[in-house]
Amino acid sequence: KIPVARTIADLRETVSAWRKENLRVGFVPTMGALHEGHLSLVDLAGADTDRVVVSIFVNPTQFAPGEDFEAYPRTEAADAEKLSSRAHLIFAPSAAEMYSPDFSTSVHVMGVTEDLDGAARPTHFAGVATVVTKLLLAVLPDKAVFGEKDYQQLLTIKRMVRDLNIPVEIIGGPTHREEDGLARSSRNAYLSAGERQSAGKLNVILRETAHAVAKGAPIAAATEAGITAIKEAGFQSVDYLEVRNAETLEPFASGKPDGPARILVAARIGKTRLIDNMPVE
Ligand code: PAJ
Repeated sequence: KIPVARTIADLRETVSAWRKENLRVGFVPTMGALHEGHLSLVDLAGADTDRVVVSIFVNPTQFAPGEDFEAYPRTEAADAEKLSSRAHLIFAPSAAEMYSPDFSTSVHVMGVTEDLDGAARPTHFAGVATVVTKLLLAVLPDKAVFGEKDYQQLLTIKRMVRDLNIPVEIIGGPTHREEDGLARSSRNAYLSAGERQSAGKLNVILRETAHAVAKGAPIAAATEAGITAIKEAGFQSVDYLEVRNAETLEPFASGKPDGPARILVAARIGKTRLIDNMPVE
């Protein structure tokens, strides 16, 4: 059975014992409700380290009022079962352990957080950056793995770690997909059977739009067609469908990619908001 640390002190005690044995430590932060996508990151974290820590913490500060903080699935026993053969320690603190009543600090990463999901969810990335800073400083792993599924989050963490000189290597892991290409997400559990069918079309339209842009179609025309197709597939609205610079997330002024490009989408179906992204190549 995999041990669970509930406090930062207990976590540090275990990790320092590993350090005394010169063991290398990998870390995967999660909010639980673990699926194959998370587990692929855990395997990546374990690939060239000796011990792997997985945190499970549904971080209240990255949810805005009216978002799904209360409804977010909490399945710790099943998560622990899935991790027992691939990780060595779970860190599952209470909200009180992470945030004292007079908690006063927030980490804001400028630039990459301001548009796309940052525009749709204006307090989200400060919540993520703050909790990830706390988690990285609590574990102090050699490397930490984040999914490309949340591409803007991955870029935000990379920039933050660079800017603040946090001594941890940040690794991006590929997006794990269902049979029809739908990106694995804990939020897929919210979809009705009919919505699940429609949701599978999102990655197909994303790929087709990326392909059109790669072949020379102007970004504006290609994404407009993509938005129409997503709505026709059964989504009620599209927060954004954008082709951006893959490193800075800035738009291409010329209307066509003149450097590494990434296509990113957020769209709403029923009460669920789904995101996805892929390279334009
Ligand atoms: P969560 O949504 O639980 O995701 C944990 C990690 O798993 C993130 O790095 C995310 O990008 C990755 N992930 C999710 N779905 C994936 C998939 N289909 N394929 C590959 N990786 C996938 O992201 C968070 O939690 C939180 O914001 C967190 C970083 C833990 C801070 O609270």
